[in-house]
Amino acid sequence: TTDLKGRHFLKETDFTAEEFHSLVELAAELKAARQTGTEEQRLLGRHIALVFEKTSTRTRCAFEVAAGDQGARTTYLDPAGSQIGHKESVKDTARVLGRMFDAIEYRGHGQDVVEELAAHAGVPVYNGLTDEWHPTQMLADILTMSEHTAKSLDHVAFAYLGDARYNMGNSYLVTGALLGMDVRIVAPEELWPDAEIVAMARQLAEVSGARIALTPDVAEGVKGADFVATDVWVSMGEPKEVWDARIALLAPYAVTMDVLRATGNPAVKFLHCLPAFHDLETTVAREIHERHGLTSLEVTDEVFESQHSVVFDQAENRMHTIKAVLVATLAG
Ligand code: CP
Ligand code: NVA
Repeated sequence: TTDLKGRHFLKETDFTAEEFHSLVELAAELKAARQTGTEEQRLLGRHIALVFEKTSTRTRCAFEVAAGDQGARTTYLDPAGSQIGHKESVKDTARVLGRMFDAIEYRGHGQDVVEELAAHAGVPVYNGLTDEWHPTQMLADILTMSEHTAKSLDHVAFAYLGDARYNMGNSYLVTGALLGMDVRIVAPEELWPDAEIVAMARQLAEVSGARIALTPDVAEGVKGADFVATDVWVSMGEPKEVWDARIALLAPYAVTMDVLRATGNPAVKFLHCLPAFHDLETTVAREIHERHGLTSLEVTDEVFESQHSVVFDQAENRMHTIKAVLVATLAG
């Protein structure tokens, strides 16, 4: 078996395909054990710091419940409640937390911050989302895909529609490439991942046999897909001013029943990391709905609430997969 003790998880490529698969398998085992009441606590007495510079529902709760199930404790530092980066350098924060905790989760803007924490903490550091990557989400999404297909992953095709030059688009492209999947990034060219990320994915694909496509054409991009995924069109931390231009660019990429039909696959499944925009009740959301006459943005309610949608399995799987990361890197 794969030994991941003491390892960081800062981006998907920190792990080999084999290591990535071993984490997903461990998550499936832990999920089954929890369901049958046979889970063993392997993290008794451990302490995990949860540093959030952006808000969260799933990621925070997944870490807290996973740690609790395993007998570990968590300390949550909210977006306003820590000195990190404002009153104290990232390097000093890393060295302080590293003296008290067995591991540190970090969610924020720059990948450079989570990398710097990892460089100085002396304990495993996990990326709970940065502008660039959302690696723990990928474990959940791959587990969810494996639960909803009879195919082996290297025969699975998935299409990601929407803003692809941000964490979810980058992470899907690179994860699919790492695992030898058929990955389609379906977005206007302005919103494709950066050239260096595409180059990284192409290199990985040479080794894994992944097929990679980037296309602005929805019909071509989704044809034959087993899974269609999307994300919010404007991410946490982006200014309000970007909304109008983003909506204009992405309106043709909303996931509708027509998009699912265009896959030609009646069993196609829909993925969304959540939160979904149409659930928000903010002033910005209301203004946008009214101004653009849209009832939903990246996905219609019809798709979201349909038999195709596996978004709540995906959300639950955040917990099982994050538990796998904790157990694999900290236990024993
Ligand atoms: N998918 C996800 O990361 O959700 P949260 O922002 O609620 O953690
Ligand atoms: N792209 C989104 C993902 C949220 C889980 C964001 O960064 O806000």
